[in-house]
Amino acid sequence: MKPWLLLPPEVAYKMAPLALRAHRFVTKPKHCRWRPLEWQGMNFLNPLGTSGGIDKNAEHIEDWWRFGVGFQELGTVTPQPQTSNPGKIIDRSNGDMAIWNKMGFPNLGLEQFVKNISRIPRPYYTPLFLNIGKNRWTPNSKAHEDYIFCLKSLHPFADAFVINISSPNTTGLRDLLHKEQLRQFLEPIVAANLEIAGGNNPTPLLLKLSPDQSIDELGITLETSLDLALDGWILTNTTTQLRGQLPFPDAGGISGAPLAPTSRNLLKQAVEILGNNKQGKLLISSGGVMTPKEAFERLELGADLVQVYAALIFEGPHFFAQVAKSAVKRYS
Ligand SMILES: Cc1cc2nc3c(=O)[nH]c(=O)nc-3n(C[C@H](O)[C@H](O)[C@H](O)COP(=O)(O)O)c2cc1C
Repeated sequence: MKPWLLLPPEVAYKMAPLALRAHRFVTKPKHCRWRPLEWQGMNFLNPLGTSGGIDKNAEHIEDWWRFGVGFQELGTVTPQPQTSNPGKIIDRSNGDMAIWNKMGFPNLGLEQFVKNISRIPRPYYTPLFLNIGKNRWTPNSKAHEDYIFCLKSLHPFADAFVINISSPNTTGLRDLLHKEQLRQFLEPIVAANLEIAGGNNPTPLLLKLSPDQSIDELGITLETSLDLALDGWILTNTTTQLRGQLPFPDAGGISGAPLAPTSRNLLKQAVEILGNNKQGKLLISSGGVMTPKEAFERLELGADLVQVYAALIFEGPHFFAQVAKSAVKRYS
């Protein structure tokens, strides 16, 4: 019985931070070690982490460590604070195990994010990836400036950066993934990241991809990012393609179980396209991972790490411990 699934989705969404905080008094930090990974000097206790959007303002880092996460992705943070899109922003279909959202990066902005994350002493218990975006009023021609602004403020706190240009909820954002714009957009970001690091060991940069790209487009995106020496990819963000098939409004992005076949397929295709170029890069699978079995299958398909969002809505935060328990049986 998951009592929060009886609440209207927006109420449950608003109450989730309080419920997480309440665990501070009843839950000890969990050490879930299974299929550990070492990558670019980071140590992952296990390969299952939280997806972008769960902790937008870096307010719950220690809370999630209590549930046994292998790593966390924080954000999306934008340079200036911004509110969510107008109207309804989240919905849920319990029968379909699906989530719909039209949030549009509501967050408290970079300054507050830095205040929050700087309270966490390094080295971190598990790696923290910082997901960065642009404000909705920044035109695409200047989008790279927002991302560079975020890199500059956040580099002391990031184990890796996630460049998010795949959300469907910021008008025109996904255009940056198009072949004609991608290189032009990424080049100055990669150069700034190297300069910030003093030319040596720059913070890894990962690109979060859309599930709505064709396989040809995926190939071009991977080729461009390899050319620019990006360090990895997250496949995928939410989809706009299932809108007609589920009881949701005709806007926004859909995630959860119905997204699984697409995310799984794009992962397979990415592994195939990358071939030997995968060496040393990080592939993260996100989208429709709702069961321990699905998490294991993504790893077996070639993902180094797996992320969840919708599963935490339907199963609750103990999902991480459930997967760890099954993993011990599967991998020992
Ligand atoms: C309510 C909600 C908010 C989200 N916010 C963000 C975000 O701010 N940044 C981001 O990169 N992805 C965001 N996502 C996408 C998730 O990180 C994830 O890629 C997607 O939901 C697919 O995973 P899932 O099927 O496990 O939910 C959001 C998803 C949901 C459901």
